Amino acid sequence: MVGPSKNRRLGVLISGRGSNLQSIIDATETGRLDATIAVVIANKEDAGGLERARRVGVDTAVLKHTSYESREAYDGALINELRRRDVGLVCLAGFMRLLSVRFVEAFPNRIVNIHPSLLPAFPGLDGQGQAWTHGVKVAGATVHVVTPELDAGPIVLQATVPVYDTDTPEDLATRILMEEHRIYPEAIAIILGGGWRIEGRRFLRE
Ligand code: GAR
Repeated sequence: MVGPSKNRRLGVLISGRGSNLQSIIDATETGRLDATIAVVIANKEDAGGLERARRVGVDTAVLKHTSYESREAYDGALINELRRRDVGLVCLAGFMRLLSVRFVEAFPNRIVNIHPSLLPAFPGLDGQGQAWTHGVKVAGATVHVVTPELDAGPIVLQATVPVYDTDTPEDLATRILMEEHRIYPEAIAIILGGGWRIEGRRFLRE
């Protein structure tokens, strides 16, 4: 089992607006998170989060998945970009791509993801919309360590939000997002801080 490491260099992977990236940037700036964002990588050149990174002088890269012939080839290029910047923890922040076993094995227990549902409920796309449609009364967000199985790795932190009868799917997504922004930097700090281990599916703090 690969446990904590001293490397506090983050590689943040995004596909879109990057509000979770922003929460990580903000937490590093205020000192709540003792880490350096070594690079932000997007798979789309119009990902809004790229501008958030550039604004604060963080290195960015665009790797368009459409330019690669296979997932393996794409993930190999991602691994290279992260390794050459000595990234110690990969943070998926709205990165809407499945990752190959090759990628997960290149960073064992060194990849985290934020997902907008209380996993294992509602994995995959649009977790908030799935929860709303299902009619749950409590929804939330999950930060988990990434394993090859989609949205199924050991859970680091979760936060719950109520679902009101008057909510639109957008209302619920907004409420969940506020919790995402709170728990993602906190979970990253926990992982970087050490003093944890993984037993089976369980992420345990000492
Ligand atoms: C967030 O809600 C995140 O939880 C979700 O995408 C959104 C990205 O927003 N991720 C997933 O659904 C992953 N399965 P952001 O670009 O503003 O951070």
